[in-house]
Amino acid sequence: MKHIPVLLNAVINALGDIQGKKIVDATFGAGGYSRAFLESGAEVVAFDRDPNVISDAENLKKEFPDKFDLIPKPFSNISELTEQFDAIVFDLGISSMQIDIPERGFSFRADGPLDMRMSEAGDSAADLIEKLSVEDLAKILRNYGDVKKAGVLANAMKNAKPKTTLELKSLIYSPKDVAPVFQALRIAVNDEMGELERALNSVPDLLKVGGKCICVTFHSLEDRIVKNTFKQWTSPVGDPRLPIVEEARFKSVKTEVPTEEELNVNPRARSAHMRGVIKSY
Ligand SMILES: C[S@@+](CC[C@H](N)C(=O)[O-])C[C@H]1O[C@@H](n2cnc3c(N)ncnc32)[C@H](O)[C@@H]1O
Repeated sequence: MKHIPVLLNAVINALGDIQGKKIVDATFGAGGYSRAFLESGAEVVAFDRDPNVISDAENLKKEFPDKFDLIPKPFSNISELTEQFDAIVFDLGISSMQIDIPERGFSFRADGPLDMRMSEAGDSAADLIEKLSVEDLAKILRNYGDVKKAGVLANAMKNAKPKTTLELKSLIYSPKDVAPVFQALRIAVNDEMGELERALNSVPDLLKVGGKCICVTFHSLEDRIVKNTFKQWTSPVGDPRLPIVEEARFKSVKTEVPTEEELNVNPRARSAHMRGVIKSY
């Protein structure tokens, strides 16, 4: 299934008039956001670490020559950008194309190699299970999936060394743990939390004054990182009990979740949250 952009209207509303503005789309995916920004008159620099998006990006480049570019790298590489932007937008997680292709190994609904690498490079989920100790594997299951009895499952995984999605699924005793276990491994394989933290660290200096950072998250762990980072940016700097306190560098933009209408059309938008901030100085 082609990816249906999530919370696109909310993102567009939060950005306001973007005619002639320069935007980073940190997560190109199927290009739904990039296209909407370009059609509203913006220039876009996009990132995506999945090499499968390159052909869609090349087509978009033909349609909008000189207005669009894709950097096929992890978005933590925004730190290497040398100019400032009017907006930096993250639509986190995986795309429908990634989840729907069994060979990518993201889905527990179809059999495929236990891969889960967005970039198709580095260690796959099967490699991680081979390499990590039972303790480290259990930590991943606990921290990224809130899996109960993580030690028992980690032990079973180390013994069985699953190589396919359904082999892994067959080891998970409780059906309600299946999705969290797959999510936990995916987060670890793709270092999703580290990527997000590193990228957000670069955002304040990369935004122009009046520039906005908008994040759409899909699970509580990434939402917590975004919420806490934005809270820090929107809080006055210094000890409030002392006379010299610097005004916060950012102000919040409204938080949004999908409407019932959007969820009817796109149930995959279910857990999405949009948060945004605007740079004041
Ligand atoms: C939810 S999709 C984005 C969909 C896009 N907004 C659209 O409208 O088509 C997320 C995309 O971000 C990419 N991605 C996730 N984490 C990334 C990272 N750290 N660096 C680069 N790309 C990443 C994934 O490969 C995926 O293609």
